[in-house]
Amino acid sequence: MLSLIVAIASDYAIGRKGTLPWHISDDLKHFKRITRGHTMLMGMNTFISLPGVLPKRKHIVIADDPTFNVDHPQVEVRRDLFSALEECRKADEEIFVIGGGSVYRQSLPYVDRLYITWIDMTVPDADTFFPQISEEEWQAVYESEPFFDEENAVSYRFVNYERKHDEKDLSE
Ligand SMILES: NC(=O)c1ccc[n+]([C@@H]2O[C@H](COP(=O)([O-])OP(=O)(O)OC[C@H]3O[C@@H](n4cnc5c(N)ncnc54)[C@H](OP(=O)(O)O)[C@@H]3O)[C@@H](O)[C@H]2O)c1
Repeated sequence: MLSLIVAIASDYAIGRKGTLPWHISDDLKHFKRITRGHTMLMGMNTFISLPGVLPKRKHIVIADDPTFNVDHPQVEVRRDLFSALEECRKADEEIFVIGGGSVYRQSLPYVDRLYITWIDMTVPDADTFFPQISEEEWQAVYESEPFFDEENAVSYRFVNYERKHDEKDLSE
């Protein structure tokens, strides 16, 4: 089963200059709690932006660059996103697409569940955005109370969505 986890600002910004536009430690804890023990699928830029290989998680990294390789038992580098998505969807476990913009955009039609942290701010100099979430396609199944982050002076909330209709067939 394929899920996706992301933190999105009100203007759909998710990244700036290769990093997150905010540092909300509670959201990072939320990310760790949800993905711990699972496989994560990500683009090369997102992998590079991580502080290192995250413990207790398998990393599947999509990279077009044939010279990019990672020698680590928890990391598998793949050149073809769609064959990786197909395998992840057939897996018995819940596998998480964790970014970034390019991989989110291509994966969204094939994902069953979204874990979104909505951050109540705009990012004027953002360079990476998430696609619009359509209410026709996605139903909110859980919504947390709003929380407040002192460091960024922003409020945020966690919302989980499930797809209302069947996801797209990868063979189409
Ligand atoms: N807010 C959040 O929750 C969140 C989460 C994760 C990341 N981010 C942010 O997102 C930004 C990074 O996003 P990004 O779009 O630049 O990069 P990305 O999606 O992480 O990675 C892009 C890389 O993946 C490769 N790739 C993508 N699709 C491919 C395909 N179909 N086949 C083969 N290779 C493929 C690209 O190769 P080519 O360029 O050669 O196609 C490129 O090297 C950063 O700012 C990061 O902090 C935000």
